[in-house]
Amino acid sequence: MRLLFYLSGEHAGMAEAEVRALLETYHVPWTCLFFENQVAVYETEVFPGLSRLSMTHKVLSLDFTLSRRPFRVRVKKLLSGDADSLQLEREIADTLQQEHGRIPVDLENPEQEIYCIIQKGTRFTGKTIMDFPYSYEERKPHFRPYFHPSSIHPRIARALVNLGRCSVEVLDPFCGTGGILIEAGLMGLEVKGLDVSEDMVAGTRRNLEHFGIGAHEVFQGDATCVQDYFCEVESVVTDVPYGKASRLTSARKILYEKTFDSIQNITKKACIVLSCPYDFERIGYSTREHFILHVHKSLERHVYVLSVE
Ligand SMILES: C[S@@+](CC[C@H](N)C(=O)[O-])C[C@H]1O[C@@H](n2cnc3c(N)ncnc32)[C@H](O)[C@@H]1O
Repeated sequence: MRLLFYLSGEHAGMAEAEVRALLETYHVPWTCLFFENQVAVYETEVFPGLSRLSMTHKVLSLDFTLSRRPFRVRVKKLLSGDADSLQLEREIADTLQQEHGRIPVDLENPEQEIYCIIQKGTRFTGKTIMDFPYSYEERKPHFRPYFHPSSIHPRIARALVNLGRCSVEVLDPFCGTGGILIEAGLMGLEVKGLDVSEDMVAGTRRNLEHFGIGAHEVFQGDATCVQDYFCEVESVVTDVPYGKASRLTSARKILYEKTFDSIQNITKKACIVLSCPYDFERIGYSTREHFILHVHKSLERHVYVLSVE
């Protein structure tokens, strides 16, 4: 069936990659039919793992039928200057009623929603099959029992886990306050973590337990010899320490090189975030994808999706 993914405008390229990553993680066949800005259309099927998506607003089925149950039509204009939404909603509802007979309209609590996205004058009309509630705010770092400002936003943390193609478990060797592990645990994955700081380890454990993630393996240890703590893991997902300077100091170069070498001993898949570009090919990784997130004027985050041959 043709599924349309209405992607977050924050970073549509990364959002589209997250969709593909989940299709691959769950071995679901797919063909990309269209991808431009916030709209991606795939020939594929619906599966429970899609509920993990964090950078998608909605999933629509473009091959839909309407039942006799109450419905509503919503129009979303992605660029200004397109047709009047309210008038278009009425027109689409009228057309559907002419095609399917009289179906009750319920604007507040409909049992089915027809959603029309207008992008650069092209209309994409489908039936909503998945909506993603915005529950990330309550998990933002300052609402957790253990807080440190270095933690990434939970929606991005979840996308990183998905890009890392984890279906069973994830290891974060620089786990900090556990931002990545919380999202992984809430998606039902086994969580493993390491941090050099005892305080961070205690904080991660507290945070995980606060969110009901009781089963975890989080230790104090040095990421440069991660194989001493974990023998084999499905995927490593991590946000490395940046330090104060945005350029790479020699101490940091050594920390990264040793850690990235060490990670190759225990996994074939990784998603690594740094504050600067990094040549992973030179040390034996294949770069599947590289995204740049602009955090603020002087801070960028480089997201690398990697595989180890
Ligand atoms: C950018 S923070 C990670 C933030 C984390 N993603 C979160 O959500 O809180 C980096 C972490 O790396 C830890 N760290 C620094 N050097 C380390 C090393 N050699 N081994 C393990 N952890 C280390 C620091 O203590 C810090 O907690």
